[in-house]
Amino acid sequence: MTDVRHDGPAGPADRVLAYHRRTKHRLDRYAAGPDHLDWDAQPAPFRAWRGTRRYDLPRTAAGITVPWSGLGAPRAPAPVDLEHLGRLLQLTSAITAWKQYGDSRWALRAHPSSGNLHPTETWVIAYWVDGLPDGLYHYQAQDHGVEWRASRLAAADTLGLWLGFSSIHWREAWKYGERALRYCQLDMGHVLAALAYAAALLGWRPRLVGMEHVAMAHCLGLDRAEDFAGVEPEEAEVIVALHGDGTPPPDWDEWSGLPARLDPRPLYDWPVIAEAAAATRGPLPAAGQWGGEGAPRTAGPDIAAAEVILRRRSAQAFDGVAMMPAPLFRRLLASLLPGGAPVWAMWESAPRVHPVLFVHRVEGIAPGLYVLPRSEAGLTGLAAAMRRQFEWTPADPRLPLYRLLAARAERSARTVSCHQDIAADGAFTVMFVAEFAAPVAANPATWRHLHWEAGMLGHCLGLEAEAAGWRGTGIGCFFDDADHELLGITDERYQVVYHYAIGKVVDDPRLSTLPPYD
Ligand SMILES: Cc1cc2nc3c(=O)[nH]c(=O)nc-3n(C[C@H](O)[C@H](O)[C@H](O)COP(=O)(O)O)c2cc1C
Repeated sequence: MTDVRHDGPAGPADRVLAYHRRTKHRLDRYAAGPDHLDWDAQPAPFRAWRGTRRYDLPRTAAGITVPWSGLGAPRAPAPVDLEHLGRLLQLTSAITAWKQYGDSRWALRAHPSSGNLHPTETWVIAYWVDGLPDGLYHYQAQDHGVEWRASRLAAADTLGLWLGFSSIHWREAWKYGERALRYCQLDMGHVLAALAYAAALLGWRPRLVGMEHVAMAHCLGLDRAEDFAGVEPEEAEVIVALHGDGTPPPDWDEWSGLPARLDPRPLYDWPVIAEAAAATRGPLPAAGQWGGEGAPRTAGPDIAAAEVILRRRSAQAFDGVAMMPAPLFRRLLASLLPGGAPVWAMWESAPRVHPVLFVHRVEGIAPGLYVLPRSEAGLTGLAAAMRRQFEWTPADPRLPLYRLLAARAERSARTVSCHQDIAADGAFTVMFVAEFAAPVAANPATWRHLHWEAGMLGHCLGLEAEAAGWRGTGIGCFFDDADHELLGITDERYQVVYHYAIGKVVDDPRLSTLPPYD
């Protein structure tokens, strides 16, 4: 183990590193979770707020004609009104379809979520937004509306629009036990990426707001103990500015609404989640120099980008035969590099998460293990941390892609991905390897951000694949140290934080698809 010097034996860095270790899935033992699940007692997927005024949002995102190929082109900002707020939320957090199998019916949203449990709640702070009184609102995905929470203490004098995000840990912990906090953070990354794509379509420039955790929770009304008495708490994650001077209002007036309990009879308690959450409250990463190679510009298909986002799904099975064309493979990888996707204009910090790929079926690329270091530091660091025998053969004239090993690796990919076939049957499966112990020790909040970054990377791959008629699936279930053994990683300088698979989908004919809203 790396000798990390930081804030003493019981400090936040120790606590989160200990949390990470104890929530590893191992080949012989999964992380602690419930012994059995009562599916009928699943926490409510939507948080109801009683006693608030609701404003319906228009659902006109399908009318956005920007083609996927033109996603990166500059465009005039759309007006800041109810219609465009509705579009933004439709492409970020809304329901995009219902699925039905027998008597069961469940909603899918614009972003994926581990176990489809959707721990992320979305908040809107608006002033001078045409059609909406100034205030703080909870976004209600169930019917695509916003619910009034508070009005502004002082009258606003300029336009301002922010989205805030919080996690309800219990939604994930109910099913996944102690590992759930990781999934909440990966989901958060997917949501942020979804927001970046949505904002790009409107010509808006999202910026993460650096705020103290206490101030952020206060701003979103999540510290109002009297309102949350007896219901599951919400953990503030991040506020993103879309318009305005960057800082949301510090104080509110005239609160309204009370949240409903999601799970009246919780069967378990996983206190380590709240401990690790508290240990990882801290500043956002500083904007940094990327320092790596930029993405080679490739256009992508001409299909409407909004259509791609609205029809995005995760694959549950891949066909095990389709060969991915090499240009598409390159386009997917380029989306992970600077300039390759809208999210990297919002997430300006130096990259700390690097894809290592099991390539199974890509035309012109020998099956094997590949790495795409996203920075110079990643290149040198990974070369030093991974197996000495890796060959590091340059594998592409334009991308920083290196072959580590030529071998068919479907079985290994399946095994390390909790024996899931999707990891073996696609074109490729990625392990996201994060620079870990040192940055987490320096700022324990980095632990969250590494998971966000991995979620964002997965989201870019998923949408880019979707646009081309392929599909992705996040894989939160993987055997951590089996990955590390395979890569020759023997300490905590680097840790794998997420897997993601891409392939040609095999649809389940038993499922029917219904429209998102009546
Ligand atoms: C962080 C994360 C982890 C996931 N892990 C798995 C997994 O291990 N296996 C799997 O089949 N799907 C996994 N998924 C996919 C979800 O099951 C899927 O997103 C969810 O059912 C919603 O479906 P949709 O993405 O089609 O909207 C994961 C998704 C996310 C975001």
